[in-house]
Amino acid sequence: MVHELPVQFAGVRGNAVLLAQKFLGEILREGSVAVDATAGNGKDTLFLAGAVGNSGKVYAFDIQREALESTAILLKESGLDQRVELIHAGHEHMERYINRPVDGFIFNLGYLPGGDHGITTRPETTLQAVNAAFNLLKPGGRISMVVYTGHRGAGEESRAVEQMAAGLNPKLFGALKVSFLNRPASAPYLVLIERVKQ
Ligand SMILES: C[S@@+](CC[C@H](N)C(=O)[O-])C[C@H]1O[C@@H](n2cnc3c(N)ncnc32)[C@H](O)[C@@H]1O
Repeated sequence: MVHELPVQFAGVRGNAVLLAQKFLGEILREGSVAVDATAGNGKDTLFLAGAVGNSGKVYAFDIQREALESTAILLKESGLDQRVELIHAGHEHMERYINRPVDGFIFNLGYLPGGDHGITTRPETTLQAVNAAFNLLKPGGRISMVVYTGHRGAGEESRAVEQMAAGLNPKLFGALKVSFLNRPASAPYLVLIERVKQ
C-alpha cells in the first residue's frame, strides 16, 4: 500500500523549518489541536497558533524559561496568546499535560538560536517525546521533525530519529526523510511522519 505524503513545496527553497510548517499547515484547520515540542523563540508556535484558528489550541513546551518568555512576547504581539498554553517542562513529559487527541506536532531539534548552544535536545528524551506523540496523534495526524547535524550529540540524535522512523509499521504510518540536495550536507533536514487515516 502506498501512503501519499503531499507537501506543498512552493517558496520553500532550502528552508527546512518552512517545509516542516507547510507539512502541518496542510492538515491543520480551525479547531485543530497542535503541539510545539520545542518552543524556542516561538516562530513555530506562532505558526501553529495561526493555523488552528480561534477555537483551536496549541501546547508549547521548552525546558528554558528564556525560550518561553520570547515565545510569550511573540504571541502577545500577534494577539494569538489566548490560543497557546506555554509549558515549562521537557517534551518527554507531554502526556502529563495533554489529555486530548492531537492533529499535529512539530519538533524543531537542537539548541535555542541566540541562546546557550550547550542546552540541546537529546536522543533519549527526543525518542521518549516522539513515543508520547504517537500515543496522542489522531488518525491522519502528522509529526514534522527538523533535524540538525551541528550540535554536540547531533549525530547520535539524528541516527536515533531516523532509526525510529524507519521502524514504523508502513500499514500505520508514512515516514519520509527530506534533505536538500543543493545545500551543504550539514544543513538541517526533515523527518515527516503521518499516521494513516483509519
Ligand atoms: C531549535 S530550538 C527550537 C526553535 C523554535 N521552534 C523556534 O521556532 O524558534 C530547540 C529548543 O528545544 C529546547 N529543548 C531542548 N530539550 C528540550 C526538551 N527535552 N523538551 C522541550 N524543549 C527542549 C531548547 O531549549 C530550544 O529552545
